[in-house]
Formats: sequence, C-alpha cells, structure tokens
Amino acid sequence: MKTEIYYFSGTGNSLTVARDFADKSDGKSISMATVVNRESVSTGADVIGIVFPVYHGGVPNIVGRFISRMDDINNKYIFGVCTYGDEPGIAMKYLSRTIESRGGKLASGFAVKMPYNYIDFSRSLREVSVEEQQEMFNGWRKKLESIHKSVDARETGRFETSLETLSKMVDTLRLREIVGKRVWLKRAGFVEHTDLTFWECIQLMDSGFQYDEECNGCDICSKVCPVSNIKMIDNRPSWQHRCEQCFACLQWCPKEAIQFGSRTSGGKRYHHPDVKISDMLRRD
Ligand SMILES: Cc1cc2nc3c(=O)[nH]c(=O)nc-3n(C[C@H](O)[C@H](O)[C@H](O)COP(=O)(O)O)c2cc1C
Ligand code: SF4
Ligand code: SF4
Repeated sequence: MKTEIYYFSGTGNSLTVARDFADKSDGKSISMATVVNRESVSTGADVIGIVFPVYHGGVPNIVGRFISRMDDINNKYIFGVCTYGDEPGIAMKYLSRTIESRGGKLASGFAVKMPYNYIDFSRSLREVSVEEQQEMFNGWRKKLESIHKSVDARETGRFETSLETLSKMVDTLRLREIVGKRVWLKRAGFVEHTDLTFWECIQLMDSGFQYDEECNGCDICSKVCPVSNIKMIDNRPSWQHRCEQCFACLQWCPKEAIQFGSRTSGGKRYHHPDVKISDMLRRD
C-alpha cells in the first residue's frame, strides 16, 4: 500500500501537516509546486492526500491546476486536509467538486487550525502569540491520530466545514466577484480595470508587494517562491504577476524587507517553527 501526500504551503503549516502524516503512514510528502508544470502527474500510490491552506474561504489556484494534471484518479482513495487561521468554510466541498470534475472522488476532508499568515482586515500582519501557536500545534498532534485512523480504515464521508450557510450565500450572491475582487485588488494597489474573475485576479495581487531599504539582494525571496514569480532585476525582487499569494516571500525574507501595502512594516513575521528555509527553497 503506497501513500503520497501532495502539499502546497507558504509558511510551513501545510507542509508540517503533510510531512507528519507521511511519516506516520510510511508515505512520502511531495510539494505540488514541483510537479504542477508537468503535462500530467501519474502516481503509483493507492492513497493520496491533498494538503493546502484555505485562501479566501476556498482553495489556492495551484491546487486546482495540480488536480487537473493528475492521471487516473478514479480508483484511488483520496483525502484532503486544509489548514486555516480562522474558518475552513467549505474549502473541502470545493476540493471535492474539483476532484469529481476529473472523475475522482474525495473520500473525506479534514480541517486543521494553524497560525494565520496573511494580512488582517486592518491590512496588518496578525501576531499569534507563542502560547496560541503551541495550542494549535498540540491540537494538530491529536488530530493527526484521528485522521490517520480514519484514512487507515478507508472511511468516507467526513467533511469538516464551517459557516456553510454563509459560504453558500457568498457563492450564490457572487460576493467574491462583486465585492471581494474590488476590495482585494485595491488592497494590492492594482487600479486598472480587469475582466478576470476573483480567483484569476489572485495572480495580479502581487502588485501589493514591494521591498524596502533593508533589502540586501540575498535572492532568498526568489528561491522560496513556489511558482517562480520573483525575478531578480539589478539584485532586487520584481514580481511577475503569476502569484499564488502564499506570502512565502514576505514571511521568509531574512531582512523583513518585503512589505504588502502600507501596514506590514515592523509586523511580526511567521513561519511554522519546525520548518526550515531549506525545506521551502525551490529546487529547479
Ligand atoms: C491569501 C491568503 C488567504 C487566506 N484566507 C484565509 C481564509 O479565508 N480563512 C482562514 O481561516 N485563513 C486564511 N488564510 C490563512 C491560512 O489559511 C493559514 O494561515 C494556513 O495555515 C497557512 O498555511 P501555510 O503555512 O501552509 O501556507 C489565508 C492566508 C493567505 C496567504
Ligand atoms: S529575501 Fe529580502 S533581502 Fe533578500 S533579496 Fe528578497 S527582499 Fe531582498
Ligand atoms: S510572489 Fe510571494 S506571495 Fe506570490 S507566489 Fe511567490 S512567494 Fe508566494
């Protein structure tokens, strides 16, 4: 029985979940970003885990691209785990729909609370205290046992969601398109008109990033970006508008020189304490 856990992660929460699960089940954890540009992704595994952070109540774009390249998924046992800072919403239902559209089936979907790594409503970075972080990490250790048992028994039908009615209303009223797109593009300082959908606009939201005078040209931001969206020009980062908004560049910059908008300077940076920069660096 072979288990493969595919993950996407900006600050290591989802990487930790994927790695811990893989270790417990004698499986392998694989970064989606390393395989997503292949024409197709075939796997000899019978059990596949898909682990990712919740973005805007939904699923990061790269996860959809990854699933669209997966071969032969109709006879696999597939489970999902999302990590989230506030609410998982119906991310697992979206994932289930995407997998179904490829002829597969999501057996179960779990949600794990982890430190929040994005900007808040105030547009600043949120500081999660060490004690709160520890509580979440302890929560994950317990949850790992129950997810492992459930997957081991090939259980189906457990979908961990929250705010279902509200989330469905957001979809029915197209609130991401009507309100979310405007608000988030504005926060990113993107002022031109675009007919792209909210989810397509994510790639443009790197307009919100800039480097400050602390930047020493070390190149870590370009190497940590999972989708090669940062080009170094004259020894300084330049964002190329195919962003996933994972915030890895901002959170891992050793000089804290990357800002998003005007309120992140001096804000506490976050990455999962068990994850090292070497775990995150792109190898291409
Ligand atoms: C672009 C973006 C959007 C996010 N949206 C949500 C959200 O809607 N709900 C939520 O609970 N957390 C949200 N978060 C927080 C992450 O889901 C959470 O911190 C996650 O554990 C980060 O995982 P990672 O370390 O693997 O990147 C968001 C984070 C980012 C970067
Ligand atoms: S990681 Fe930070 S210091 Fe290094 S090049 Fe990027 S912005 Fe500059
Ligand atoms: S540019 Fe930054 S936020 Fe965008 S995908 Fe790369 S690392 Fe993530």
